[in-house]
Amino acid sequence: MSSICVIGTGYVGLVTGTCFADLGNEVTCLDIDAAKIEGLKKGILPIYEPGLEEIVRRNYEAGRLCFTTSYTEAVPNAEFIFIAVGTPQGEDGSADLTYVEQAASQIAKHLAGHTIIINKSTVPIGTGDLVAGIVDRSLNGNRSTATFSVVSNPEFLKEGSAIQDFQHPDRVVLGSTNRQAAEQVAELYAPLSAPVIITDLRTAEMIKYASNAILATRISFINEIAQMCEALSADVKVVAEGMGYDKRIGPQFLQAGIGYGGSCFPKDVKALAHMAEQSNLHPQLLLAVMDINYDARRFFVQKIERTLGSVANRVIGVWGLAFKPNTDDMREAASVDIISLLVRKGAIVQVYDPVAMKTAQRVLPGAVTFCKDPYECADNADAVLLLTEWNEFKQLDMERVKGLMKKPVLLDGRNLYEPAEMGKLNFNYHSVGRPAVK
Ligand code: UDX
Repeated sequence: MSSICVIGTGYVGLVTGTCFADLGNEVTCLDIDAAKIEGLKKGILPIYEPGLEEIVRRNYEAGRLCFTTSYTEAVPNAEFIFIAVGTPQGEDGSADLTYVEQAASQIAKHLAGHTIIINKSTVPIGTGDLVAGIVDRSLNGNRSTATFSVVSNPEFLKEGSAIQDFQHPDRVVLGSTNRQAAEQVAELYAPLSAPVIITDLRTAEMIKYASNAILATRISFINEIAQMCEALSADVKVVAEGMGYDKRIGPQFLQAGIGYGGSCFPKDVKALAHMAEQSNLHPQLLLAVMDINYDARRFFVQKIERTLGSVANRVIGVWGLAFKPNTDDMREAASVDIISLLVRKGAIVQVYDPVAMKTAQRVLPGAVTFCKDPYECADNADAVLLLTEWNEFKQLDMERVKGLMKKPVLLDGRNLYEPAEMGKLNFNYHSVGRPAVK
């Protein structure tokens, strides 16, 4: 059993802290947001993540997990301190490190004995050294006898399956100038029996960026192929399936659609490209990946316009707002760009999402109408758009949907439905990279 402090109670911090507590460790989660901490003490989670609430409650009641806003309380007794604070995107695409720097200097002020400080936030290459520098200077300034090592331990948690990803990682990556410190962190993960890679700080930081960048690249690649499939009358879903059986290629992250969103891919690809440019390199591939991703949204809106003639004064129902299913997160969601474009072009937009309605009220343009279910959302619509592939949308009564709509026009941004079935139901059905059914 180890004593762990996790700073930041966002997706990464809360999942990491809770799952380490569940492995039997004593974990204190710290956040400077007092309202978040008060909520967590009452079992109210700041995010929606399937299964998390139950594990938080169980470990909180068992006394292995506690929440605080106080560095004085959390830092001195911790053997391991994870930094899992946000790294928002700066104006130029660079990651904003303000929160990481603040956490590092607060940690330094309260450090006692020997502590291992672990960077979990996705940070630009070199941030491990930056954190070490901040802590070192502060300790020297205060003539402190405390000692520390810095380890980079990037996370690979997907929203919606973050607990599963924590408990069954494909690998654990640890970077440090101090191999012994990295090995001690590896011990925390030992119960998960995953392959462990120990390397230097900068290589570990690069593994995270390169991993996200290749996944984003696969998505943009298949979206480019989807464009060609549409032009040449091929079916991108079958193309991806046919490619995926090749063990060198594999089937994952080859789903064509309206592009990637979320808190990681858009930000990380941009930040990596920015780092390349800062080093006087020309990141041509990453720049193309970002362009294609934005085009996927633009082309989808053009498809709606082609299908309806014009979208002005047309009623458009939108199923799904979250950037992907099983989350209420709408950061960089394709839905936001698509809806904003439609509203700007004069469309009357009505929306429904199984979980993200509250978030949507904050981030969508004011003119949008919020509906209580997918049927209300289809009512009187000239077209319905499927933007997030929630399970709930797989089993709808499509005859009823058709009966409610002004015209049976369905534009599927995630290739959720089968064109032949939609044809049988007499929908005018368009998807991405597959033949349309009219
Ligand atoms: C991602 C990484 O997968 C994870 O390892 C990292 O730690 C954080 O970023 P996440 O953002 O939660 O996780 O979502 P992910 O499931 O990877 O999907 C990202 C986006 O890509 C979503 O908008 C999704 O709809 C889209 N996507 C994904 C596709 O368009 N096609 C695909 O084939 C896969």
